[in-house]
Amino acid sequence: MNRCEIGIIGLAVMGQNLALNFARHGISVCVYNRTRERTEAFMRERVRGEPITPADSLEELARCLTRPRRILLMVQAGLAVDQVIEALLPFLEPGDLVMDGGNSHYADTERRMEALAARGIRFLGVGISGGEKGALLGPSIMPGGTPEAYALAEEFLLRIAAQSEEGPCCAYMGRGGAGHFVKMVHNAIEYAFMQGIAEAYDFMKNALGMPADAIAETFARWNEGTLNAYLVELAARVLRYRDPETGEPLVERILDQAEQKGTGRWAAQAALELGVPTPTLTAAVIARTLSHFKADRERIAAGFPWPDRRSEAADPSAVTDLEAALNLTVLSAFSQGLWLLHEASRAYRYGTDRTEVLRVWRAGCIIRARWLIFLREILREDPEDPHLLFHPRFRQELQGRLPAAGRVLARAFEAGIPMPALRTAVDYVLSMRRARLPANLIQAQRDAFGAHTYQRIDRPGTFHTEWEEG
Ligand code: ATR
Repeated sequence: MNRCEIGIIGLAVMGQNLALNFARHGISVCVYNRTRERTEAFMRERVRGEPITPADSLEELARCLTRPRRILLMVQAGLAVDQVIEALLPFLEPGDLVMDGGNSHYADTERRMEALAARGIRFLGVGISGGEKGALLGPSIMPGGTPEAYALAEEFLLRIAAQSEEGPCCAYMGRGGAGHFVKMVHNAIEYAFMQGIAEAYDFMKNALGMPADAIAETFARWNEGTLNAYLVELAARVLRYRDPETGEPLVERILDQAEQKGTGRWAAQAALELGVPTPTLTAAVIARTLSHFKADRERIAAGFPWPDRRSEAADPSAVTDLEAALNLTVLSAFSQGLWLLHEASRAYRYGTDRTEVLRVWRAGCIIRARWLIFLREILREDPEDPHLLFHPRFRQELQGRLPAAGRVLARAFEAGIPMPALRTAVDYVLSMRRARLPANLIQAQRDAFGAHTYQRIDRPGTFHTEWEEG
């Protein structure tokens, strides 16, 4: 009887690539997919002598595995996860481990974890980032659940994870749904990062009049400096690509409606529920949603002219300002994401070590960036700092870039270019650096129309005033 060390259910591209990754690290894998043709095609077209065994049924998969069983679900997030767990349960025994490697909602993960725990089955919510390539060559892995469940999977996950100078990009993210929560925040930062890059592209194209090739060159140059990041490098690569049919940059032929699968929206919802301000993460979700109203935008644009303020000549100082501005967007987004993680860990008792989160994001994942080294360094000095803004070196990095970001925003307005990620990033910093905000007037008005009361800065207590004159 074949004894495989790990089972993978779901052979879409992520499942396939993870199976190959495990197998190429000497871990024997048993694979199963609901539609058998997919398993057959995988075995025929992609497996070349790696220790991978196909199973025709969940029962066969369960029989194929060493005990306690380790099973990774790579099926579509949502109902499919519940259905597969339900179908698998009759073949599992207490002590077995089920891992969900999809982008499940952290609350669903917690629900499943509890239900399975009642039957003695361990469950891990495992965030996996890196796309198809990462899955094959080394993803960033964010597992959450009980420490005992993690201990069962650790050795295997560490072997397939991306490697950085700071070790394998896999670490225990905390209890309950922590793994999926961290992955959700990763994705929300990814949304903000991509929105920031898209705004920089828009600015270079429509305020500075730069062609796609020059914009690509600029991103490539930025990638050599503080903005060294997978997404910046990728922007350069995508902008350089020419459509074989038209010979033009392909990006200019792509419909400007951004899709989303839900993790960004969940992060925004979680932040609102937890009372954590994440304006840039949220703005990036809204920007994608707004992009969908293409027909409305076209109709409004036709009746809403804006003076063309495109520069004629190259403007190196504007590009330098823009680089500073994108750095500020990225730093601000990380600060917001870290704050959200801090609060979630406290409220949901995850026990997440955010210095480990930053380490795990160093390689393999979509938001890998040079800034992570710096962020981790300063967070390690004060791991309880919710948002890094208490740290003088972090503040310095922001402060030094604010004037440039302000100039970019002013020029963007002149050219009619929306920059919601940058604008919210700047406003977040400006708001957090204000000892006194105008919320006093809001409190006064709330008290005036609804007797909601207010507090004073010069003496303790709760106050109400009859605001009507005379
Ligand atoms: P992709 O978008 O890359 O196709 P996905 O939708 O996240 O990936 O996951 C699809 C995988 O989930 C497939 O392996 C699919 O199985 P089929 O090939 O049979 O479609 C699996 N899947 C989806 N719903 C499922 C369900 N209810 N039960 C079992 N597997 C399911």
